Amino acid sequence: MKATELLKRQHREVKGLFKETKKASGAKARRSGMEEIATKLLAHMAIEEDIFYPAVKELGTKKTAEMVPEAYEEHHVAKLVIRELPKVNPEDERFEAKMTVLEELIEHHVEEEEKEMFKVAEKLGAERLTELGAEMKAAFDPQPLKAAGGRR
Ligand SMILES: [Fe+2]
Ligand SMILES: [Fe+2]
Repeated sequence: MKATELLKRQHREVKGLFKETKKASGAKARRSGMEEIATKLLAHMAIEEDIFYPAVKELGTKKTAEMVPEAYEEHHVAKLVIRELPKVNPEDERFEAKMTVLEELIEHHVEEEEKEMFKVAEKLGAERLTELGAEMKAAFDPQPLKAAGGRR
């Protein structure tokens, strides 16, 4: 599977999890939904940062020189929110507010990846993209959230 296809599938999965978690009633269900989202997002961001972004950056165009550092910074902001979420009571209004902020952040970020970065990434060629896809699939390793709020 091409790297871009793998990442798109993961984007769709997280989008679905946000939808489910918003509908979930009860503190326990919302917390476990949040934990699954956080876990999947952290693993997704890790394979992008370690494998996909460096490959895109290697293309060395003016566009990639802007796009890649911006994507890392967006991940950084998402991780700040992800780290705070486990400390907030799911029954507190701040929980829903933070989840909404995270969802919007991710939505914006995913749109830029899919509409801009993945298009540019096509220049890597189908073969290289398939190699990167296999490498990322093997490296994808969701870890349970630590009580302190995540491993990164
Ligand atoms: Fe990303
Ligand atoms: Fe992504």
